[in-house]
Amino acid sequence: MAFVIAIAQQKGGAGKSTLAANLAAALAARRRVALLDTDPQATLTRWAELRARHQGAAALTFDAPSGWRVTGAIDKLKRDHDVVLIDTAPHAQTDSRVAIRAADLVIVPMQPAGPDLWASEATLQLATAEKRAARVLLNRVPAQGRLKEVILAELATRKLATLGPGLGNRTGYATAFMLGLGVTEAAPRSTAAEEITATLAALARLMKT
Ligand SMILES: Nc1ncnc2c1ncn2[C@@H]1O[C@H](COP(=O)(O)OP(=O)(O)O)[C@@H](O)[C@H]1O
Ligand SMILES: [Mg+2]
Repeated sequence: MAFVIAIAQQKGGAGKSTLAANLAAALAARRRVALLDTDPQATLTRWAELRARHQGAAALTFDAPSGWRVTGAIDKLKRDHDVVLIDTAPHAQTDSRVAIRAADLVIVPMQPAGPDLWASEATLQLATAEKRAARVLLNRVPAQGRLKEVILAELATRKLATLGPGLGNRTGYATAFMLGLGVTEAAPRSTAAEEITATLAALARLMKT
């Protein structure tokens, strides 16, 4: 049975789809990965369409179920994949609740800033209510300044754990996305690729426990 990961955050633009694509692409090099786009905005669907043009890109199963079909799609894909990754819509809608309920782990991407932290609370509460393990992934972390430390301290007082060191603010993520690739494929020697690899290592430790 697959390990199911829901990527959720009620704030739009937090990096859910970027993270889902990059984790899926990097994991697909070694594992059987299914990627589900449950956001009506269909960002990942566009990414998957672009990806289909790359014959060298690691194969992954893609589906974009909605409404009552989401749970069934997850259950079906769980059987013959190692990892099922679910990208969700903003606004803690019903579909993201369904994804969180089905997940072994909820990853909440969050930019290190007050409004983003406050916006994350609803998603994190939903994960707690569903008794799901959750990890915050700091995204678009500025290279300079103390913002990351301030937010990490805030997370610690709320007993919220992070997943890996997080991702910096890098154009490489958008460039790879436009090609239907992950940064580990489009720019394997980049800092962005190192960040995704570090995130995967942190994820692998969680998946073992
Ligand atoms: N680490 C990052 N560095 C630079 N740009 C990023 C990063 N993560 C996301 N972005 C950009 O931010 C925008 C929103 O990201 P997206 O993944 O679509 O967020 P969401 O799915 O949460 O709405 C996109 O233009 C994306 O390229
Ligand atoms: Mg999105």
